[in-house]
Amino acid sequence: MRLLVTGGLGFIGSNLVRWILQQHPDVELVNVDAETYAGNPANLADLLPHPRYRGVRADVADRATMRALFHDWHPEAVVHLAAESHVDRSLQDATPFLRTNVEGTQVLLDAARETGVGRFVYVSTDEVYGSLGPTGVFTETSPLAPRSPYAVSKAAGDLLAQAAYHTWRQPVIITRCSNNYGPYQYPEKFIPLVILNALEGQPIPLYGDGQQVRDWIHVEDHVRGLWPALTRGTPGRVYNLSARNEQPNRAVAETILALLGADPALLRTVRDRPGHDRRYALDPSRAEQELGFAPRIPWREGLRQTIAWYHQHTAWWRAIREREDYQNYYQQQYG
Ligand SMILES: NC(=O)c1ccc[n+]([C@@H]2O[C@H](COP(=O)([O-])OP(=O)(O)OC[C@H]3O[C@@H](n4cnc5c(N)ncnc54)[C@H](O)[C@@H]3O)[C@@H](O)[C@H]2O)c1
Repeated sequence: MRLLVTGGLGFIGSNLVRWILQQHPDVELVNVDAETYAGNPANLADLLPHPRYRGVRADVADRATMRALFHDWHPEAVVHLAAESHVDRSLQDATPFLRTNVEGTQVLLDAARETGVGRFVYVSTDEVYGSLGPTGVFTETSPLAPRSPYAVSKAAGDLLAQAAYHTWRQPVIITRCSNNYGPYQYPEKFIPLVILNALEGQPIPLYGDGQQVRDWIHVEDHVRGLWPALTRGTPGRVYNLSARNEQPNRAVAETILALLGADPALLRTVRDRPGHDRRYALDPSRAEQELGFAPRIPWREGLRQTIAWYHQHTAWWRAIREREDYQNYYQQQYG
């Protein structure tokens, strides 16, 4: 299979590329990534060069370049992950979110339609559903009610993908996954931030009362769900992916500190994120029944493995945390 992946130098994308190259010897893979601040060639460096992999540094919203790539290489399938992915950054400036997540998705859908791509997975998020109260879960039929510029931009991409199916019967499949954690996650995100600040004995910022609930899944389990969605998912259909693992932020941080044997006093309450969604929880029954989706990595075990990974890859994260753009972002965000 000729498979085009976008965003394959990011957190989930690099885990997906690694897994596919290892598990599926029939796949030839092209990875389109703009190498933004979050796209890190080091994420795949140990695998490369690889006879079935080619990296293309390009912007998915660049229509001429995407058309040329699709017309030249004729991918049979696409998994579209490239995105601006951090809610906090979308509050500082939504512009790149609209370009990549909305325009970029339409550009890829158009190029895929022109060249007859047979399968197109749009990797969406539970954040498109908005926020839950203390009870209930989102199913695929829950209304979309995104509440941050990031979530709105992902929902727009999700709806453009659905429109391509309804209008042209383009074979588009949408996955909406809950919060991921695991190796290669960019250090600004919550779990690596807690681990790395704890390892360096620095204060750990915790938004508001820390009782915001997220539904955590290990990135490998997400990747293992994307494959059957790509190969067996029904076109036009949406699949929620989650490990049914709801955790309040404060409990996540406290668990990590306990696993590390670090001082709980490192946790510092900071002003809550404006408009912070209170709770996400996803029902993955459809993916379980129709795709055989079955997350395998238990939460504490996954956290232990993730902590061990960051322990063993200090050069990877130090290089990012020492960069001026990372420090400027951190300073602006947490003071
Ligand atoms: N991280 C999560 O918990 C989570 C959960 C559900 C869904 N998702 C979705 O999964 C996808 C990947 O998320 P992630 O956490 O790996 O993000 P990430 O920020 O780690 O990686 C994003 C990647 O996209 C690339 N990219 C950004 N703009 C681009 C552009 N214009 N053209 C080409 N490449 C571009 C970046 O260089 C980077 O490699 C996103 O679509 C995100 O919305 C993430």
